Amino acid sequence: MLAVLSVLCLHLCSPVCGVFQKLYCSISDNCECDFKPNIRDLEWDLYKNVYGQHLAQDIVSEEVARFLQNKSPERPLVLSFHGSSGTGKTLVSSILGNHLYGSAMSSPFVHTFVPALHFPSPDRVQQYREELKRWVLGNLTQCARSVFLFEEMEKMPPGVIDILEPFLGPSHVVFRTNYRKAIYVFIGTTGEEVILREVLESRQAGLDREEIQWADFQDAIAQAAYNSSASGFFRSSVISQKLVSRFVPFLPLSRRHVERCAHSQLCQRGSCGRGDVVESVGGDMTYDPVPGHYFSTTGCKAVPAKINLFL
Ligand SMILES: *[C@@H]1O[C@H](CO)[C@@H](O)[C@H](O)[C@H]1NC(C)=O
Ligand SMILES: *[C@@H]1O[C@H](CO)[C@@H](O)[C@H](O)[C@H]1NC(C)=O
Repeated sequence: MLAVLSVLCLHLCSPVCGVFQKLYCSISDNCECDFKPNIRDLEWDLYKNVYGQHLAQDIVSEEVARFLQNKSPERPLVLSFHGSSGTGKTLVSSILGNHLYGSAMSSPFVHTFVPALHFPSPDRVQQYREELKRWVLGNLTQCARSVFLFEEMEKMPPGVIDILEPFLGPSHVVFRTNYRKAIYVFIGTTGEEVILREVLESRQAGLDREEIQWADFQDAIAQAAYNSSASGFFRSSVISQKLVSRFVPFLPLSRRHVERCAHSQLCQRGSCGRGDVVESVGGDMTYDPVPGHYFSTTGCKAVPAKINLFL
């Protein structure tokens, strides 16, 4: 019976099969929704389309592959992306979402939370906590393989995400749902100073960007997020209980990375040959810290607007 329902579910797909799926998921640990992960495509997409982020590319590929190999993981995968604006955090999260489900990022099982939209007022933490718990619980009941993206964590009122503590940890029974197959991704700028300092130091020490190691950042980022009152992780038990599987640093981008972004966007518009525009876009960005003119302050974010200006 279970098998029949599951097959039905897989073939009928979301809206039609809602009722079956709910029933199936409620009596089985095995509800996989339209989960069709493609790790190879994920890796390829990350390497081809994300510039200057060897750590993020490696960590996300490795962690997701390892997590999905395990048919019954002991805890969910919890990634926290840190870095300044325009370095590719949102891009990487959508690349991830795009290679997990049949219907890619438009899958009903990818849930995106934006503080300005879902949690705008710092006075309503209690209400938000209840809502968030109800949503996550409801979403996990529908699909154990749900993905939750939390954007702009630097704008999230502190205290809200702590309600997720029981979902993020390894304990066995939470509200009868198998919540350990879920993937959580937190995204924010908190820790950008720590990352910048580390990158500058390794540069001054004569290291290549690609020689920067992941381990150099973990504690520093965790502390920065925990200490910063402008962070949804401020004094959060999610940090102190070590519920984040990996902190993922996004390094500041230099001019050559910005120019690669410009080149690839020009190609998408059918103007691959416009080296002059690439050059102008690269030259028109602000680079910081000023003496060395090292890193673009806006990463690849302002690139489309600049292309419009110069094309
Ligand atoms: C799933 O989460 C969304 C918010 O992203 C919420 O609107 C929706 O009601 C939730 N679904 C269930 C079944 O709780
Ligand atoms: C965070 O706060 C602790 C305790 O106050 C302090 O020791 C640590 O240096 C701080 N870390 C950062 C990155 O601010």
